[in-house]
Amino acid sequence: MGRLRVGVLISGRGSNLQALIRACADPVCPAEIVLVISNRPEAPGLGVAAAAGIPSDTIRHRERGTFAAEAERRLRQGGVGLVCLAGFTRVLDTGFVEAWRDRMINIHPSLLPAFRGLDAQRQALEAGVRFAGCTVHFVRPELDSGPIIAQAVVPVHPGDDEARLSARILTVEHRLYPLALRLIAEGRVRVVAERVEIDGWRAPEAIAINPQDAAGEALAPNGS
Ligand code: GRF
Repeated sequence: MGRLRVGVLISGRGSNLQALIRACADPVCPAEIVLVISNRPEAPGLGVAAAAGIPSDTIRHRERGTFAAEAERRLRQGGVGLVCLAGFTRVLDTGFVEAWRDRMINIHPSLLPAFRGLDAQRQALEAGVRFAGCTVHFVRPELDSGPIIAQAVVPVHPGDDEARLSARILTVEHRLYPLALRLIAEGRVRVVAERVEIDGWRAPEAIAINPQDAAGEALAPNGS
């Protein structure tokens, strides 16, 4: 079976794109990135694509429908089987989202369904949660929604600001997105009744409690 041909849509920095490129550089990786599309010509991620020798295109997102039609054309031309949104900041045309149903994934810097939309990390801090994280999910027309494939959790530290928390989450994003891509490329992921089933998966045993005391022990009620 050939490698899964992947198209990545970006708007900015491209650090998740970089993580996906690095993972696909492994000869045993069952996916290859064949095309990068940016809606912004100045996106630094375009440089990431160029440095890896991956063809890229800029399609200005002036109007949803025309962006969708042009993106669709290029993705088809590239024989793309899976679309990865990696910091793509525009809302996509509903027809486009439906056309790529269960073949388009996104990474979002929160534990969905909490904190959809912009500034997810700031929303998490404002809500005072003790754990934050990121989610890879199949894309549905409603913003930051769709069947969840994988999640990673990070603790919120005392005194965190948005930049520190975002950096901590980003580190795990770079592990989570390649993992989700690999699982899909291996053909192990199915959507059944809007929930994701993964062949041969295990959940970690570890339980995390936040806060802990100074010695790193979970604070237990009644000293138990
Ligand atoms: C990431 O935090 C991602 O979760 C969100 O947008 C950011 C993109 O960063 N969707 P980068 O362009 O991949 O560095």
